[in-house]
Amino acid sequence: MRLSHRLFASGSLMLLLCAAGCDPPGKPGPAEVPIEDVTDFHVLFDTYCQGCHGPEGKRGAARILNDPLYLAVLPRQELYSVIENGRPGTAMPAWALKYAGPLSEKQINSLVDGIENNWAKPAAFSGASLPSYYTQNSGDAAAGQKLFVRDCYMCHGPGARIGSVTDAAYLSLITDQCLRTSVIVGRPDFGMPNYRNLNLGRALNDQEITDIVAFLSAKRPPEITAMYESARIQPGQQTGATGAHENENGSGQTGTMTKGDEGSGTGPGSPQQKKREGNTSGSSQQGVK
Ligand code: HEC
Ligand code: HEC
Repeated sequence: MRLSHRLFASGSLMLLLCAAGCDPPGKPGPAEVPIEDVTDFHVLFDTYCQGCHGPEGKRGAARILNDPLYLAVLPRQELYSVIENGRPGTAMPAWALKYAGPLSEKQINSLVDGIENNWAKPAAFSGASLPSYYTQNSGDAAAGQKLFVRDCYMCHGPGARIGSVTDAAYLSLITDQCLRTSVIVGRPDFGMPNYRNLNLGRALNDQEITDIVAFLSAKRPPEITAMYESARIQPGQQTGATGAHENENGSGQTGTMTKGDEGSGTGPGSPQQKKREGNTSGSSQQGVK
């Protein structure tokens, strides 16, 4: 599958780069500042993120980050936690020093601020009612299959131009959350429409998005879904995560913040898992809003 190949390829590229000291050639920035002290957003992004998410956060193998709709839907809290913890079981590694990654809290904050300040356009969505980043309800896979045939098949069905997204191997590299993100945001960098246009100009509603994800999720080997579930960052059992950034400002995305760890675990086999087991209180995050 093309999509899965690209994720594998970018993962191996990253390993190669890291084998050479996580210090790709051509890294910008003053030579005398060691990378662990760099706080410039662009240098950090180019060094650690663009290999998978693409230059300027677009057109990479992993999903687009440079998209105003995406950033309007994504809670700031989640952006911080995903960078900190990664998505266990996928190619998205944990970046925080405390999870054996290379980045300090200050550097993660610089990435969060840089992504939002450079790529978000909150004004364009103020007052808009957007789908929730997180799943709110349980999905109906059978209903999702019908929607998939209606809205996705022409591009992702057998023989269609773009790779399959129903293949078990592909689905074993991507979480339900990332599937949900993809249905909401599309891939504007590659021509996949977002939720507002997938169904010929009528927006998909929240339940439809959830049902489509349930259909895809059911095609993944169940043990991998179980592993994703157990490693999932608990979204604070939804403290108004719907939409926008306005809610999240002020939630204290500063250095001392540790929410997002709780219950987020790390996948089986991960070197970080043991370290973190004592810390899985499962409680939700205190800080969003
Ligand atoms: C008009 C064509 C089109 C339609 C319709 C479409 N997609 Fe896509 N989709 C794409 C393209 C193009 C890509 C990017 C492929 C690539 O990365 O090379 C993509 C990528 C994806 C990805 C991978 C996302 C990522 O970030 O790498 C998923 C998952 C996905 N589509 C799911 C769906 C689902 C589910 C539907 C139906 C609700 C759908 N797509 C409808 C064209 C489409
Ligand atoms: C080795 C490849 C790789 C690298 C390097 C990487 N990512 Fe990711 N990233 C991924 C993959 C794959 C996913 C999707 C994980 C999933 O399925 O949930 C992802 C997911 C994400 C998401 C969540 C997307 C969503 O579903 O809403 C964010 C945010 C993100 N990455 C930011 C970053 C940042 C910032 C960096 C640099 C510090 C980075 N990533 C580096 C592969 C990578």
